[in-house]
Amino acid sequence: PPAGWSVRADVVVVGSGVAGLTVALRCAAAGLRTVIVTKALMDEGSTRWAQGGIAAALGADDSPADHERDTLVAGAGLCDPEAVRLLVTEGPAAVHRLIGAGARFDLDPAGAIALTREGGHHRRRIAHAGGDATGAEISRALADAVRAAGIETIEHALVLDLLTDPADPTGGAAGVSLHVMGEGRHDGVGAVLAPAVVLATGGMGQVFSVTTNPTVSTGDGVALALRAGAEVADAEFVQFHPTVLYLGPEARGRQPLISEAVRGEGGLLLDASGRRFMVGVHELAELAPRDVVAKAITRTTREQGTPYVHLDARHFGARMWERRFPTILAACREHGIDPVTEPIPVSPAAHYASGGVRTDLWGRTTVPGLYACGEVACTGVHGGNRLASNSLLEGLVFAERIADAVLAARSGAAPTGAAGAAGDRLSVAGPGRRSGPLLSPDVRPEIQRIMTDHAGVLRSAEGLRTAAAELDALAGRAVEKPAEPGTDSWETTNLHLVARVLVAAATERTETRGCHWREDHPESDDAWRRHLVVGLRPAADG
Ligand code: SIN
Repeated sequence: PPAGWSVRADVVVVGSGVAGLTVALRCAAAGLRTVIVTKALMDEGSTRWAQGGIAAALGADDSPADHERDTLVAGAGLCDPEAVRLLVTEGPAAVHRLIGAGARFDLDPAGAIALTREGGHHRRRIAHAGGDATGAEISRALADAVRAAGIETIEHALVLDLLTDPADPTGGAAGVSLHVMGEGRHDGVGAVLAPAVVLATGGMGQVFSVTTNPTVSTGDGVALALRAGAEVADAEFVQFHPTVLYLGPEARGRQPLISEAVRGEGGLLLDASGRRFMVGVHELAELAPRDVVAKAITRTTREQGTPYVHLDARHFGARMWERRFPTILAACREHGIDPVTEPIPVSPAAHYASGGVRTDLWGRTTVPGLYACGEVACTGVHGGNRLASNSLLEGLVFAERIADAVLAARSGAAPTGAAGAAGDRLSVAGPGRRSGPLLSPDVRPEIQRIMTDHAGVLRSAEGLRTAAAELDALAGRAVEKPAEPGTDSWETTNLHLVARVLVAAATERTETRGCHWREDHPESDDAWRRHLVVGLRPAADG
C-alpha cells in the first residue's frame, strides 16, 4: 500500500450511483465489511441526474421478451444475448426490490406504477419518479438505506490505482489507493485494502466539450482498470443524447438534458422550417432509437446551417409541464426558454459510454477480484447503442449479481459463466501499472476540443488521425514537464487515456454501426459484427 492511512475491508466499492450503492447494500446485508469510496459527495454522480426513468417489463401489455427485442435492435447487432436476457428477466423483480428499499415511483390513477415511453421502446415501460427526477429519487432512497445500514463511506476520495499483493501469483486485486481531500478521518493519499474491488465509477462524458454528465464523470474507473491490466470493450460506442438544451456555441461542460420522455409523451422534433423531420426517417419517428435521432438532428442542422433543431411540446400545456416535467421546465426557464409557450432549442451532447471495462455475466473483469458495474462496465447489454433507460436497470441487476459473485468467491464457490465479449484485440501503448507522467489540468479543455472536433457524433479516418496526433502531443508535453499530483491532474490524465483508447477503437472500426458514425464508411458491414477489445501495452514493450 502507498504511504499514508489505510482501512481494511472485505469489499471496497468505488462509486456511489445506483450500481455502487446496490452492490454495497447487498454485500453489507450478507455480513461483509463494506467500504464505499466516492469522488465527491454521495449523490454527485450521474444517477441523480437521470430523468426519464428505469426501463422494465412491468406493464400488463409487456413482457421480458418484448423488452429483449427492443434492446437487441437498439444494440445494432453487438449485444450479448445472454446478458440482455438476464437484464430483462431479472429487471422487474429488481425494480420491485428497489421499491422495497424505499424508492417511490409515480403511480397511475389506478395505483399501478405509471409507465412512459422513450426512444426505441415499442411499449410503455419506463417507470419514473417525481415526474422527471427519477435518478434523484433512486439516489435518495439508496443513500438513506446505506446510512441506515451503517456502511462506512469515504467521500471526496479520488481513486488512483488498483493495489495488488506481490505475493499473489494471480495478480489479483488487493484494494485501491486513493487521494482524499478530506475533512474527516482520512486525508491525503491512503488505501482501502480489500480482496474484492468493485468499480462503479460511472462514465466519461467529460472527455467531450458538452455533455449531460456531471463534472465527476472523467473516466477514472476505465483508466484505473486499463492500468491494472484489465480489458475494455466497445469503447468507440459513445452515445450522444439527441435532445440537450442548446445554450450557444460557447457552452461547455454539463448541459441540461431534455428527457426522451418529453418525446415519449408526444413532444415533436421540428427543423428550421417547422417540419417534422423524423417522419419518414424511422417507423417510430421521434421515438426512434437515439442514435437514429441524433444522426437525423446532425444531418438536419448541417443541411440547414443551424446549430440546433426545435423540440415542441407547447401542446402539453402549463399543468402537464408542471406536473410531469418540473425539472426540465425549471431548467429551461432558468435559461430564458418557456416550453409552455415556445419550442425548445436542442442539439446532441455526449451522454453515455455504451462500452467500458469488459466483464462476464457476474461483473468480473479479466483481473481476479476486480469487478465493474454500471456505466463503467461493458457487460454486453448495450452493444453498439444503449436502449433508453436501460442503464439504471443494468446498474441494479448486475450489482446484485456482483454481490453474489463476491460472496461466492469468498466461500470458494465462484460461479462459472461466459467470458464476456470476445473480440479483436487492440493494444494501445500506455504506462502499464505505473501511472506515468501526470498531465496538467490546463490541457483538459484541449482534450475536450480535440475529441469534440474529431471523435464526436461524426468521425472520419482523417479526423481521428488528427485526434490521435494531437493527443500524443499532449502526452509528449507531460513527459517533458509532468504535472504535480492532485485531483485535477489525475482526472486530466484519466481523461487523456480514455480519449486515446476511444480514438484507437473508433479508428479501427471502419463502418457505421449504432452510435459510431463514420462519414468515410457510412454503411454497416456484417464483417464488423464483432467487438474491439482494448488493453494497454506497456510503452517499454514498444
Ligand atoms: C432521458 O431521460 O432521456 C435519459 C434516458 C437515458 O439516458 O436512458
